[in-house]
Amino acid sequence: MTALERVGEGRWRSSSEAATRRFGELLGTLLEEGDVVILEGELGAGKTQLAKGVARALGAEGEVTSPTFNLLVSHPGGRIPLHHLDLYRLDATSGAEELGEAGAWDVVGEDGASLVEWGAPFAELLGPERLEISLARVDAAPREAKDLDVEPAREINVRGVGARGEALARALDEAEASW
Ligand SMILES: Nc1ncnc2c1ncn2[C@@H]1O[C@H](COP(=O)(O)OP(=O)(O)O)[C@@H](O)[C@H]1O
Ligand SMILES: [Mg+2]
Repeated sequence: MTALERVGEGRWRSSSEAATRRFGELLGTLLEEGDVVILEGELGAGKTQLAKGVARALGAEGEVTSPTFNLLVSHPGGRIPLHHLDLYRLDATSGAEELGEAGAWDVVGEDGASLVEWGAPFAELLGPERLEISLARVDAAPREAKDLDVEPAREINVRGVGARGEALARALDEAEASW
């Protein structure tokens, strides 16, 4: 059963939590030092599941969770360090300063790879070269399925910004062929 399917250029469909993690693993094999990945999508869309897959592929230490307090949690020990950020509670005006206090500007785009949940309002600050990934519930379930409380699939959309971002987006598309 293929729970993860590429449905177009930069577009994927994931029908399970495990499939979204698998997509993250694929991304994790491609990431290099300095890469910045922004993860967008409403609460529960699957951003953290994707991040868990990245951590697994890198062999990063520690569990990737949804931080309620820390803006930035670094996971050393893997092929490259992984920095996991969750900016949900940041507001756009004071956010940059708080990110600085959390040490984000010392690591994002520098050592390791950075995964930034809710990073879109800070996209320009996070770097001119980045991968933007959005996850959304596919609202196509028939009425009966909704009544049965079936989880909708997720659509994953990938957009590369800048030369490195575009290269990563292409590599993801090409990697799919070898599955
Ligand atoms: N296809 C899917 N991809 C990712 N998560 C899914 C999927 N289907 C159901 N889920 C569930 O949705 C939730 C996603 O949670 P999480 O990754 O923490 O979201 P976010 O970080 O975007 O708020 C989990 O409870 C997971 O089990
Ligand atoms: Mg999350």
